[in-house]
Amino acid sequence: MEGLKLYPAQSYEVYGLSKNPFEQLASEGISDVESIHVYQEVDMRLQMIISEVIGNKSSIALSIVGPLGMGKTQRLKSIAKAITEKGGKAIYVKVDTNDILKLTRDIFYALKPPKSRTNIFLENLSRKLGFIDRLEKMLTDTREYKSRDIAELLVEQMKKHPYCALLLDELENMNSAKEHEKIQFFEMLRHFISTMPPGCIVAFACIPEAYEEYTKIFPAFFMRLHYEFRLRPMSLDEVFELVKKRLNRVRVRDTDDPIYPFTEEAIRLIHQLGKGNPRQILRLLHYVLSESAKHKFDPIDDYVVTTILEEPKSLEEYLTRIPKDYKDLVEAIVFEFSGGPVSYIQVAKTVKKPGMQVYENLNELVRLGFLIGDMKGNYKVPDYVKKFIEEGQAEGLRGEMVA
Ligand SMILES: Nc1ncnc2c1ncn2[C@@H]1O[C@H](COP(=O)(O)OP(=O)(O)OP(=O)(O)O)[C@@H](O)[C@H]1O
Ligand SMILES: [Mg+2]
Repeated sequence: MEGLKLYPAQSYEVYGLSKNPFEQLASEGISDVESIHVYQEVDMRLQMIISEVIGNKSSIALSIVGPLGMGKTQRLKSIAKAITEKGGKAIYVKVDTNDILKLTRDIFYALKPPKSRTNIFLENLSRKLGFIDRLEKMLTDTREYKSRDIAELLVEQMKKHPYCALLLDELENMNSAKEHEKIQFFEMLRHFISTMPPGCIVAFACIPEAYEEYTKIFPAFFMRLHYEFRLRPMSLDEVFELVKKRLNRVRVRDTDDPIYPFTEEAIRLIHQLGKGNPRQILRLLHYVLSESAKHKFDPIDDYVVTTILEEPKSLEEYLTRIPKDYKDLVEAIVFEFSGGPVSYIQVAKTVKKPGMQVYENLNELVRLGFLIGDMKGNYKVPDYVKKFIEEGQAEGLRGEMVA
């Protein structure tokens, strides 16, 4: 065993930065969201809604709709934070299943106080109300799923808190459930919304494609929503602010220029390349900053950005640019399927990961320009990479990897 090869940690000292501040691409891992959040109109509206709920004990239901990486989770998290800070109970559930029984169970489990993940809480409840028995019975089979009764049990629980929030993230993940099960679940939510206690916010986040489908199938539910927020791409000014805020958190050397080491032109170009999508922009910033630090480019102007983002000159260079979480997928396509086209199911089997996750990651890779998707739902590498493979570069690299 040779062990892992260790590389010296990337240093951002040249720029007076303690680390690369564009690393976190999901809101999940960010604790002080305020310090990095760029406020858009939707945030002002959300703040007004939260004040209504806290100040007047209003009850409000809303949806947040936007493509991947547009800041949906970040918004739900800020609602959760506001409610929790006022002594309320916020239930945040990331929908990761199309099984409405499991999803409903996840919602009730999220009611448990965070520190005592023991069964005591649930046992007490069941003794007091026969609650668990009733709930468990309804969650054994979708034929037992009584939407109204479940909603009422949930209202009963939420009512105990001065304020509460029911936040469902990535609702698109249940789109593949059977239609009548989706109806049962939305019926449960509908009933919850019509009977929710005062001081309650119900909010869910969803990508537009799935949202349009849901609204078509269940107009009665969507008519109950007080607000529907559509997230929009970031403007150039907002991207400047994003960059400033993120850099500010890691600066160890003072500078007069809040976007240093980037120039305005560099940010302008990155805004354009990322099409205003915050996650895509952060990804580009992360890559450009780390490559620039290696070569000590200073400042990072639009010329540097172009050079760094230029088409890779070899298969190896292409592979090193792939975000590390997705690397195995691209390697599978290159080495096992000669660059594709290949379906996400085949890729998922090869890398032994859940199909849904692989599907999402492959689409993200398409968006980032690392893969090309076709009408039949297949994925392949871009033509210039295909050429590298045809030149036999894959064999060479595979040999290296095995050795
Ligand atoms: N308004 C904003 N200000 C600052 N950063 C933002 C903003 N919106 C999104 N981001 C950043 O963009 C990244 C993606 O945001 P987030 O995870 O909230 O998106 P999402 O819409 O939930 O994505 P997904 O659909 O993939 O779950 C995060 O790193 C987040 O910090
Ligand atoms: Mg999200």
